[in-house]
Amino acid sequence: MQVDGKHYRSIWFDDDSATVRIIDQRWLPHRFLIVELTSRKSFCDAIRDMWVRGAPLIGAAAAYGVAAEMQNDASDSALDEVCNELQQTRPTAVNLVWALNHMRQLLQGLPEQQRAAIAMKRAHEICDEDVECNRQIGLNGLQIIKNIAENKDVGQPVNILTHCNAGWLATVDWGTATSPIYHAAQADIRVHVWVDETRPRNQGAQLTAWEMDSHGISHQLIVDNAGGHLMQHGDVDLVIVGTDRTAANGDVCNKIGTYLKALAAKDNEIPFYVALPSPTIDWNITNGIAEIPIEERDGQEVTHVWGKLEDGNLASVQISPDGTAAGNPAFDVTPGRLVTGLITERGVAPATSEGLAAMFPKFSG
Ligand code: MRU
Repeated sequence: MQVDGKHYRSIWFDDDSATVRIIDQRWLPHRFLIVELTSRKSFCDAIRDMWVRGAPLIGAAAAYGVAAEMQNDASDSALDEVCNELQQTRPTAVNLVWALNHMRQLLQGLPEQQRAAIAMKRAHEICDEDVECNRQIGLNGLQIIKNIAENKDVGQPVNILTHCNAGWLATVDWGTATSPIYHAAQADIRVHVWVDETRPRNQGAQLTAWEMDSHGISHQLIVDNAGGHLMQHGDVDLVIVGTDRTAANGDVCNKIGTYLKALAAKDNEIPFYVALPSPTIDWNITNGIAEIPIEERDGQEVTHVWGKLEDGNLASVQISPDGTAAGNPAFDVTPGRLVTGLITERGVAPATSEGLAAMFPKFSG
């Protein structure tokens, strides 16, 4: 998408330097920094410490991490080691495991001298496929927004609430939850986005608000606790969120706080949709609540807040008493029964085993 009038993806291969580049998301929205990833360690650090984040982007970065390793050492042991190390970085987003399994299966049957070129080509393709999936998700989600717009008074916007950042920065381009929003704006449908700040790391405040602003999409930042109130007062027409892993039974794992939004949406009879590319479906898990591993992150993300000071410098400040112990589960699981539909690249599926199996018969076994 656009940054100051220039098109960027969140990750790309730079032909001149022959390196993978990313937008280092730790500094947004206050600094726009591009960094090169070259070593195995740099790819692992970038995923673990959230220079890149968001399930589809984590998968793309992992594919490039394997490809970069193959340029240095294409042996079986290097392939095993890089896949194992990358897999340890973040446990919840299944796109990471998907990309690593995919690369491993592709490469292990090949002669070593062919691995580097084929791995890099496949990593590029994984990125392009993600972009195309998200474009299709946008077109499928556009129909939902269009239907709601048709039932609104003339000139009234469709009010969409979103949680965390499932925008282009969380994918290679377009985003998942935001792709229908961009497509609606392109179709001249008036939309207004309620952006949940998404504590503790504030991906909504820092990333989604920045994305919306860059594209001139009407939006307001709200604290995470405001959504239920807005829904009760008719100020939300639709919720669209992303997901880090959706179980084969339609249970949706996403950023912590998503479940509470789904409960409030159900109570207020507001449609609650989840937008996802098919690599985010975990066909091996049939009970999302019981089986999806939930990442527990450092308590400092809860006790501290990062931002810009009045003098323009960036700083982290402590908001709790010295020594306060914090719990920091990074994700929660929304049962499929609270989800109106899953917006995929193939269409909108019911959030049930049957619904997903009918949409993706080849994968569902
Ligand atoms: O911890 P993060 O920032 O990686 O979490 C991201 C999310 O929860 C997103 O909503 C999800 O990955 C969907 S991204 C298209």
